[in-house]
Formats: sequence, C-alpha cells, structure tokens
Amino acid sequence: MPLLGFGTWQAHGESAHRSVMAALEAGYRLIDTATAYGNEDLVGQAIADSGVPREDIFVTTKLPAERIGREQRTIGESLRMLGIDQLDLWLIHWPPSRGNLVDIWRTMIEIRDAGQTRTIGVSNYSLGQIDELIAATGEAPAVNQIKWGPRLYDEALVQGHRERGVALEGYSPFKTTRLGDPALTTIADAHNVTPAQVVVRWHIQHGIVVIPKSVTPARIRSNADVFGFELTDDEMSSIDAMGH
Ligand SMILES: NC(=O)c1ccc[n+]([C@@H]2O[C@H](COP(=O)([O-])OP(=O)(O)OC[C@H]3O[C@@H](n4cnc5c(N)ncnc54)[C@H](OP(=O)(O)O)[C@@H]3O)[C@@H](O)[C@H]2O)c1
Repeated sequence: MPLLGFGTWQAHGESAHRSVMAALEAGYRLIDTATAYGNEDLVGQAIADSGVPREDIFVTTKLPAERIGREQRTIGESLRMLGIDQLDLWLIHWPPSRGNLVDIWRTMIEIRDAGQTRTIGVSNYSLGQIDELIAATGEAPAVNQIKWGPRLYDEALVQGHRERGVALEGYSPFKTTRLGDPALTTIADAHNVTPAQVVVRWHIQHGIVVIPKSVTPARIRSNADVFGFELTDDEMSSIDAMGH
C-alpha cells in the first residue's frame, strides 16, 4: 500500500474527474473514495482516462455501515461504477450503530475470500473494536483509517495499531491542522517547502498512510512533492509534540 494517497471526499462532478486525473499525473498511486461520496463513477472514469495501468493504482472504497445485509450488492455497485474487477482495499466506513461489529466483518471476510477485494479494513474504529474483530474471527483488519494529523498525534495509538498488525491510515491531515502554526511554518521555511508539505512528509516518515484531498491543481502537485526533503529527528519530535 503506498504511503501517499489522494482523498476525494467533497470532490464532485467535473472537478472530481479532473482532480483524480491531476493526482495520477502528479504521481499519486492510491485513490480513496467511498460509496457515500457519490463520486465512484467519476473516479473510475478518471482512472480509465489517465492511461496509468490499473495494476499500478491502489483503489480504496468504503461500505456505509447502514448497508448491513446489502454488502454484496454494495461492492458490486462500487466495482461497476469504478469500472474495475477487484478493489485493493474495502473499508467499513464507520462502526455500525445497529447489529454487531462481528457479523459485518465476517461478511467482509467472505467477500474478500471470493476475490472482489484484495484486502479489507475498517475506518473510525477504536483499538477495542478491532480487538473484538480479532477475538471473534482471528482476522485483523489490514487497515484502520482514522482522523489524524499533528494535533491528534498519539504514540500509544500508533503502537497499538503496530502491535495488532493494522496499518494506520490518516484522514483529514489539513482540516485537523492549523497550517499557519509557527511550529510548522518554522520547519517549512527551513526546508523551503510549505507547511502542508511538512504535514504530509511527517506522516510518511512515521510510516502512516496519508490521503490529502484537493481539487486545486497546484496544491495536488505540491502536496505530493514531498520526496526531496527529510525532516530531522528534532523536527519530527516537535511536530509530534503538537499532539500533547
Ligand atoms: N474514513 C472517513 O470517515 C473519512 C473522513 C474524512 C475524510 N476521509 C478521506 O480523507 C481524505 C482527506 O481528508 P479531507 O478531505 O477531510 O481533508 P484534508 O485533505 O485534510 O483537507 C482538504 C481541504 O484542504 C484544502 N487543501 C488541500 N491542499 C492544501 C494546501 N496545500 N494548502 C492549504 N489547503 C489545502 C482543500 O482545498 P481545495 O480542495 O479547495 O484545494 C480542502 O479544503 C478525504 O478526501 C477522504 O478521502 C475519510
């Protein structure tokens, strides 16, 4: 799974198609969408139009928890709209508020075993909820996608995911961050990059998957242009400290 991905929530219509095309052109190789975003067809069209081979792109979509009992139909619709035969990752978007956590997880496992998705995971789950899934089925989610950023940094949560073999994927890296915070602008100036690039780079150096969203071509490119500098240990620690 690539550490850098592209988010598509609130990208609609022509701008969803255009931004995914721009992201693939800029080098992103993970695209994150969801049934609930209502843009899988546009994302799929952009993947097809991009000319990037399907096998080079890691495609994630998500099952709304209220589709319990309609999992099979939902993944079928996602695949059809995305124009692909198999997902790379299918997530449960939120823990279900009705029914139990384990039933929907068992269905996800069956669907994964039937080959419609390479891997399965969860989103917005606590470690306790993940433990419930592992205890009942012996299968940990491949990924937990949760809200993450410097101000939400929590070493114990990072460690907890690592111990369970669950990849941590962060969402809303910018919405959870004050990009004008001097703790970030000072580091950005030292590397001649933007605070947004520092935030993306910080995730990657921690081994945490990051999926920034933008519909603005210049931002799409610059958010991915994070492989030409490296944060020092002191800089990483001072960004971590924003979470305390
Ligand atoms: N699993 C879940 O429950 C869940 C929840 C939320 C999000 N997600 C996923 O995570 C992705 C990212 O999260 P997000 O969309 O909530 O928020 P985000 O990526 O933190 O922030 C997106 C916002 O930041 C702006 N932005 C982008 N690049 C910028 C830059 N370089 N400088 C300043 N502003 C910049 C964007 O504006 P423009 O677009 O106008 O450029 C947009 O308003 C989503 O798109 C979605 O795929 C998942």
